[in-house]
Amino acid sequence: MSNIERTLSIIKPDAVERNLEDDIKKIFIDNGFKISKLKKVKLEKSEAEKFYKVHETKPFYNDLCLYLSSGPIVVMIIEKDNAVLDNRELMGATNPKEAKDGTLRKKFGISIDKNSVHGSDSIENAKIEIDFFFKD
Ligand code: CMP
Repeated sequence: MSNIERTLSIIKPDAVERNLEDDIKKIFIDNGFKISKLKKVKLEKSEAEKFYKVHETKPFYNDLCLYLSSGPIVVMIIEKDNAVLDNRELMGATNPKEAKDGTLRKKFGISIDKNSVHGSDSIENAKIEIDFFFKD
């Protein structure tokens, strides 16, 4: 049975800066995702703080928000069967050093902060994150 899901993917500042947007989009498409909406934005730090609010008690929260708002990002709604989990598998581990071969973070990530992509971690958070960027 078809189980089409939508999830949010962000191409982070380190990857946009290195002109990896087209390479990353192609990998999503080659892995069966449809990119149904896309926009390039630059967040204010206060907006990044809102987006990453779940991490507000973490020691890395301030640096994380400074980083996400440090340059343009590409925000996409991507969809396929089991999109949330399949996207997490395609991204690989948060820390590129631990990411498996063939994953986006292994291929493009520089460090745990500059790990090139973000993806929603659950169906519930996918809805919240999609609304954050695409609700008008
Ligand atoms: P992301 O999937 O965008 O979600 C939160 C981000 O925090 C994560 O990717 C990392 O880039 C960043 N981060 C920085 N330090 C850590 C850490 N110690 N553990 C988890 N995430 C971290």
